[in-house]
Amino acid sequence: MNTTSQISDEIFAHERDAFVERMLQSTAGTFDMFAIYLGERLGFYKALAENDWLTSDELALQTGTHERYVREWLEQQTVVGILEVEDANSEAKARRFRLPAPHAEVLVERDSLNYLAPLARLMAGVVHPLPSLLEAYRSGRGLPFEDYGPDMREGIAEMNRPMFLKLLGTEWLPTISDVHERLQADPPARVADIGCGFGWSSIGIAQTYPEVKVDGYDLDETSIEIATANAVEADLGDRVKFYVRDASDPTLEGQYDLVTAFECIHDMSDPVSALRTMLNLAGANGVVLVMDERVGDSFTPKGNEVEWLMYGFSVLHCLPAGMADQPSQATGTVMRTKTLHRYATEAGFCDVEIMPIDNFFFRFYRLQAICPAA
Ligand SMILES: C[S@@+](CC[C@H](N)C(=O)[O-])C[C@H]1O[C@@H](n2cnc3c(N)ncnc32)[C@H](O)[C@@H]1O
Repeated sequence: MNTTSQISDEIFAHERDAFVERMLQSTAGTFDMFAIYLGERLGFYKALAENDWLTSDELALQTGTHERYVREWLEQQTVVGILEVEDANSEAKARRFRLPAPHAEVLVERDSLNYLAPLARLMAGVVHPLPSLLEAYRSGRGLPFEDYGPDMREGIAEMNRPMFLKLLGTEWLPTISDVHERLQADPPARVADIGCGFGWSSIGIAQTYPEVKVDGYDLDETSIEIATANAVEADLGDRVKFYVRDASDPTLEGQYDLVTAFECIHDMSDPVSALRTMLNLAGANGVVLVMDERVGDSFTPKGNEVEWLMYGFSVLHCLPAGMADQPSQATGTVMRTKTLHRYATEAGFCDVEIMPIDNFFFRFYRLQAICPAA
């Protein structure tokens, strides 16, 4: 064997072994997410956070579950480092387990910006229609949003909820000074929130700006029912209203000071028509704001963490859901700035400005209706 082939054999073996290691780590990570799903859905984390140390019998009793399953789950969670055990050497049913407070914030504290338990619901949601997804890849047809079930829509809403309630009104919108001023001025401003999902962005805006009236629009009936209930529960039923409407429907009319679309343009089969609706709703004086994924400017091999996640959502959910209605632009989750720019221009906007709002996942675009005179 000559030196060149020896080196290439070494490189081959190194890369193969690294990939074997990565496959094993990915499998462990996937198990993590589905075991977290069990813990969140069955109320295990909540019960553990509310108590100190619990045995499997105690946790099963508190959550209405079967002790043998609970014991296996507790052991699994401890082996992977999510839970702590008081005395590993005690008899299996006598062992007491607890959820460390830093992990509890991530898994149980719904209002925390570090709350990530909904990621497990998203993972369950994206694989819910796997057999139909295989068929979609062969046929080229899409998969309706509803086919992903409650885990998907709840996962999206719960992931974004803390940001909408804690950052949108208090940090993000104040960076856009004319919008911030208008939302505080008289007569009370009107906001249209397109693709509002469970309505947390609409509620976040109304909570921060106490005179503002918000109309949320979404295609998904179940989301609108839940959004309406959320607004009533937040005591905002009089100022925040929700409607089942397709944003690409040209008969969607109104006059608004601010028109928003949070993480939904890339999901739409006809984003150009939706943006045209937004332009009409904002008129000459309103502002159009789009928040979408903070992906790179161009396709780059290996990419970054954001793109790893966004392409994952795209191949399993956003692209097929966006192709359910035909014809479709088939955008996918990885909607780059230049793609949005093209859609906006086709819709009649003059320019797209990136807002100086710093967020790991999201980029904010202000779509300009009128170009400044040259
Ligand atoms: C990823 S979710 C985001 C929901 C919400 N904005 C949030 O951030 O939690 C995308 C939403 O867009 C909605 N949607 C997709 N196409 C739409 C359309 N043509 N008109 C109105 N809503 C649409 C979906 O029903 C879904 O609720």
